[in-house]
Amino acid sequence: MDQISHRKASVVVVTNERQTLDDACSTLRKHHYNVVGATSGPEALDTLKRRSVDIMLVDFDIPQMPGLHLAQTASRMFPDLSVVLVTPGSGVEAARTAIGCGASDYISMPLTEPQLVLVVERNLDRRNAAATQLSMERSQVLFSAIKALAAAIDAKSEYTATHSSRVTALCISVGKVMGLPGADMATLELAAQIHDIGNIGTPDEVLDKPGTLTDVEWVDILRHPDVGSSILSHVPALSHIASIVRHHHERYDGAGYPDGLSGDAIPMLSRIITIADAYEAMTADRPYRLAKSHEDTIRELRTNAGKQFDPTLLERFIAAVDDLEAGRKAA
Ligand SMILES: [Fe+2]
Repeated sequence: MDQISHRKASVVVVTNERQTLDDACSTLRKHHYNVVGATSGPEALDTLKRRSVDIMLVDFDIPQMPGLHLAQTASRMFPDLSVVLVTPGSGVEAARTAIGCGASDYISMPLTEPQLVLVVERNLDRRNAAATQLSMERSQVLFSAIKALAAAIDAKSEYTATHSSRVTALCISVGKVMGLPGADMATLELAAQIHDIGNIGTPDEVLDKPGTLTDVEWVDILRHPDVGSSILSHVPALSHIASIVRHHHERYDGAGYPDGLSGDAIPMLSRIITIADAYEAMTADRPYRLAKSHEDTIRELRTNAGKQFDPTLLERFIAAVDDLEAGRKAA
């Protein structure tokens, strides 16, 4: 179910009273709806089968197929469709009849312009609210699947088992210090969680190798941002994350990879992940060295300000991790 703008919404009006049909159709067209009229149940069903319809207004009393039967049939065949029953009376009995046949709403005769527009707008708003809820639920499912995938990739190496989740936590902390808006925070969290997704193609022995990497092994390592972004670009809901993942190994001075971007040409969220990624890697044990202390890591990060790292973002990052470190020591 997609979000619908009121102006583009499509409405079918079903009644065999010619004057009522003409008046309702012209009123809704005046309010910029796409309107189709039908004078019987079979004609209405035929319209629903041929075109996408958002709302159907069904007269209670139509020939060949009673309005109640049409409302029930259409609701079953097209679960996304909002069905509004046009009833001869109003009140509790009319509402009960409408709900009983699967309609989402009712409107009573005569159809006045304000009532007609109100009932259509109300039902479009309900559909849009339902679409938003569905989209949020899908996002949650997608995010859970991504976290599971990121954890599986991290688990390829005993040294990186919690790398992505630690980088994500650091990014969230710095994002809060920077006062990033909610949408950027959500994007940053997702991108940080899957920034190394391209390592799915890197052999385990390369990830865990204690000594110096060969040229061939370096090629494997250097490919992972490109591999990661091309995986993500195949998922439309994640395409905005692809570029952030692609550039998380660029350097502020332009000497990074895969594209040699520099300065502000590197997406800001990528620049944050670059710093968090380096901090996490330096403060964790690796096959070829032990973890550095927080203080030593900060000193080393600062020597790379303006070279590997965005100097302004680095100071924001340090403010955030200093707070975390102070809290950890106090605990
Ligand atoms: Fe990486």
